[in-house]
This record gives sequence, structure tokens and C-alpha cells, in this order.
Amino acid sequence: MAVTSTSLASQLSGPTSLSYCPNFSGLRRSCSKLETPHSISATQSLFQHLHSHLRLSSSAKPSRAVVAMVGTGKFFVGGNWKCNGTKESITKLVSDLNSAKLESDVDVVVAPPFVYLDLVKNSLTHRIDISSQNSWVGKGGAFTGEISVEQLKDIGAKWVILGHSERRHVIGEDDQFIGKKAAYALSEGLGVIACIGELLEEREAGKTFDVCYKQLKAFADAVPSWDNIVIAYEPVWAIGTGKVATPQQAQEVHVAVRDWLKNNVSAEVASKTRIIYGGSVNGGNSAELAKQEDIDGFLVGGASLKGPEFATIVNSVTAKKVAA
Ligand code: PGA
Repeated sequence: MAVTSTSLASQLSGPTSLSYCPNFSGLRRSCSKLETPHSISATQSLFQHLHSHLRLSSSAKPSRAVVAMVGTGKFFVGGNWKCNGTKESITKLVSDLNSAKLESDVDVVVAPPFVYLDLVKNSLTHRIDISSQNSWVGKGGAFTGEISVEQLKDIGAKWVILGHSERRHVIGEDDQFIGKKAAYALSEGLGVIACIGELLEEREAGKTFDVCYKQLKAFADAVPSWDNIVIAYEPVWAIGTGKVATPQQAQEVHVAVRDWLKNNVSAEVASKTRIIYGGSVNGGNSAELAKQEDIDGFLVGGASLKGPEFATIVNSVTAKKVAA
């Protein structure tokens, strides 16, 4: 039996049961603060309570029995429409999204091309937030062809995708420039979907973690806070290729990213920050990926152009609940 998020969240965020872990209200099973004797007994009783509500496999390990997800406790799924669509196709996509049934406990965001942002913002259900695919590095002005953070806010965007591999490797943006963009967007109140990921040759050379750490460090050096950042791990070899990372490959890097945050930023940020996976995610593979403990959602390209399939990916959060 799957449990509804509301009841699960209330189990986990209630003032008595989890006062020692107030920010955790979702599904990821991890909370180092719970290792004290007092909290272990609280944890055990919470686990017993949850066990009667959740379908837990017999192999579930009591030592990791706290069912808690990072940050806001919400799965996060973003659709990156890239440089695709026409007024006609985008109107159809918006209409499909408006009629889709989406699980309530997921932050859902779409990133249309700049020229359609306003159209989408004005016709899309408020259930789904709008992201931009890029933003200028500072205040707007004489920067031909650029779009400023102020303008994005003006049309109601809440997020911006920065550091996407197509901007790094096709357009040539470097770590420092991307870090500055992130800092500026955050300072103006936009959330940042901060993308990192290795090229195929870097993976084959055993440099996956080094590349991700270097890209993370550039963000960490530039931003004053991680409160409004979602990290998207997107191996470049998996983007648009149909070659999705296996759930184990993705989980391995997500754990490494979380450890890096723990060692280089703080344990709290490591626990709270959502780390989402991107690269050939589709309606057929999202549930298996979602079951991985450290995968807190997805950034979806091609499959986000199809409303019903995107809804399936959003709703893969249910696989996470059952897996928990
Ligand atoms: P894809 O793109 O899902 O088409 O592989 C993902 C992305 O670029 O964010």
C-alpha cells in the first residue's frame, strides 16, 4: 500500500516526533542527526509507526529506517524544452500539462524557450512553475541578445537552469561565468537548477567525480547560500542520446555529490539540497531511477515535450514512496 504524501509528511514533520530534525518531511532515508541514543529510540518508534503505513520490504535495514527526504521534502521534476517548439506545438503541450494529473508532493517546473515564456506563463496551470533556460550574468543593460534576471522575474519565472552541458560545451560557458550567473540569479530571488556532469571521455578516463567536484566547487565559490539551489547531475553522454545512466551509476554520483557538499559546504546543506538526475529520462525508466535513495527528481529534455510522458515522470515519485 502506498502512503499519501500528506500523511507521510505529517508523520515526519510533526513537532513531537521529529523536533530534532525539523526540515525533513519527505522520503529520503538519511538523517545523521538521529544517531543520538535519545533519537534512536524515537527513530525506532517512528519506524514502527511508518512500517504499518508503508510497504517496506523485509530487507529494509532498520539502521537506515528513517524515511526522510532532503530539503523541502519534495521530489523535483523539471522539463527543459530547449530550443524546441512553435506557438502551435507549445499551446498543445501546455494544454496536455494542464489536464495531466500530477502527484501533489512534487515541485514541477518547465523551461520553455525565452520567446514563449510569457505565453506559457499566462496559459499554464499555476501548479507548474516556470524556469528560464539561461540568464544574463548581471543586471540588464547594453547586452545584445541577452535576457536579464529582472526580466525573467517580471514575467513570473521562478527558476533558471545554469551550467547545462549544452551551454558549457556548445556555447563555451566556463565554470566561473556560470558561478557568477548563479550568484546573481540567487541574489535576485530566482531559484537555480545548477547542472554538472562529465563527458564520455572523462568518464572513461575515470574522472567523473573530479569533473563533478570541480563544477560544484565553482558554484560553491560563487554562491552565498544553497537554500534555493537544486543540483542536476547530467552525464553529458546520457543527454539526448537515449543512453540513460543505470540507476546504480546515477546513485553512485549522487552520493558522491552529497558527500562533497558535506565535506566542503556543510552537513546541513548536504542533507537539504535536492540532487536530481538528467540524461535520457523517460516514462519507462524514471520509476527505477526514482527508487534510488539519493535521486530527488529529474531534469528532463526530450520526454518533457510530451505532456502525458512528462506527467508519468513526475508521478514516478510514487515508486520512491513504495521503495522507501
Ligand atoms: P534529455 O535531456 O532528457 O533529452 O536527455 C536532458 C537535459 O538536457 O536536461
